[in-house]
Amino acid sequence: MTTLASTPAVRPANPNFSSGPCAKRPGWSLEALKAAPLGRSHRAKIGKTRLEQAIELTREILQVPADYRIGIVPASDTGAVEMALWSLLGERGVDMVAWESFGSGWVTDVVKQLTLTDVRIFDAAYGTLPDLSAVDFDRDVVFTWNGTTSGVRVPNGDFIPAARQGLTICDATSAAFAQRLDFAKLDVVTFSWQKVLGGEGAHGMLILSPRAVERLLSYKPAWPLPKIFRLTSGGKLIEGIFKGETINTPSMLCVEDYLDALKWAKSIGGLNALIARADANFAVLDRFTKQNGWLANLAVDPATRSNTSVCLSIVDPDVTALDADGQAAFAKAVAAALEKEGVAYDIGAYRDAPPGLRIWCGATVETSDLEALLPWLEWAFANQKSALKAAA
Ligand SMILES: Cc1ncc(COP(=O)(O)O)c(C=O)c1O
Repeated sequence: MTTLASTPAVRPANPNFSSGPCAKRPGWSLEALKAAPLGRSHRAKIGKTRLEQAIELTREILQVPADYRIGIVPASDTGAVEMALWSLLGERGVDMVAWESFGSGWVTDVVKQLTLTDVRIFDAAYGTLPDLSAVDFDRDVVFTWNGTTSGVRVPNGDFIPAARQGLTICDATSAAFAQRLDFAKLDVVTFSWQKVLGGEGAHGMLILSPRAVERLLSYKPAWPLPKIFRLTSGGKLIEGIFKGETINTPSMLCVEDYLDALKWAKSIGGLNALIARADANFAVLDRFTKQNGWLANLAVDPATRSNTSVCLSIVDPDVTALDADGQAAFAKAVAAALEKEGVAYDIGAYRDAPPGLRIWCGATVETSDLEALLPWLEWAFANQKSALKAAA
């Protein structure tokens, strides 16, 4: 028999710590969507105005330069990234930089689907960044700003030269609104609404620098482009996409929800406030991992530790002595116990990542909820460890 530790007194008010879709903003309810123009055409004035407003508020809060274009595109962040890869790549060689599952997915796209041949791959094990100084920015470069499945991010854009011949294509979906993106160094930035702002999946955001637009106008890929990826027509940019005239029908309910999130973001103080919230959330877990020897951040270099998708490994010697399956089972049991208690949902490590916990710390998560989670983490770990000892 194992003796179970008694449950902590306080529960997180909101147990949603998933890395996507992420927690809704504090105070959110379906009421917030009641003005959505449902049953109306997205091309009618009422719908078009909403879409334009979503673009302009994105520009304001994310501090996107005035000469960058912002479009709402289909298929969430994946749609936005693939639209960029299919539309822009092939003009020159490409350096693919990947250090976790999503970045590796873009490598597969480029090598196996687009079948580009002049490709250099810079990859690294979970927890580390590749050698960014080896990347050649006179080639096109594809990378993920914040690796959601390893919790490793680039600390800033300093590794990218301001003067470069190639384009930088950046999947920023779990960084946008929580980390400062250096737009001057980025030619394509993508994200989805379902991450830091706690919006819905389905639509992607595609942000293009003037240089990216120049490429679209001067280069035609050798492969066919489905309608859903097409950004040009008759050799001209389809400007409407960047003014709310979406390629196909968006969900006006999702748009309303994104607008609600943007307005909340603005009301609390915009980008600085969003970043500060994520930083404060990360600090709670960081302190906890430093105080508790059984947990360690998967990101080796502190400067690369994500303030959104915080990935933690269980490094207790009794656990690390287990084989890989045993370690994974232990971490899964901890996450499952917390889920069963209704105190933390969806905090198991990503399926392709090393075993552990992944706790979302983005701006919509309340710091007090993370603080309330800490005793529960200890509780679940202690119980699981007793079970391990009892089974030995
Ligand atoms: C870095 C990264 N890229 C791409 C995706 C896929 O995003 P979506 O499902 O919004 O297309 C995710 C989702 O978690 C992600 O974290």
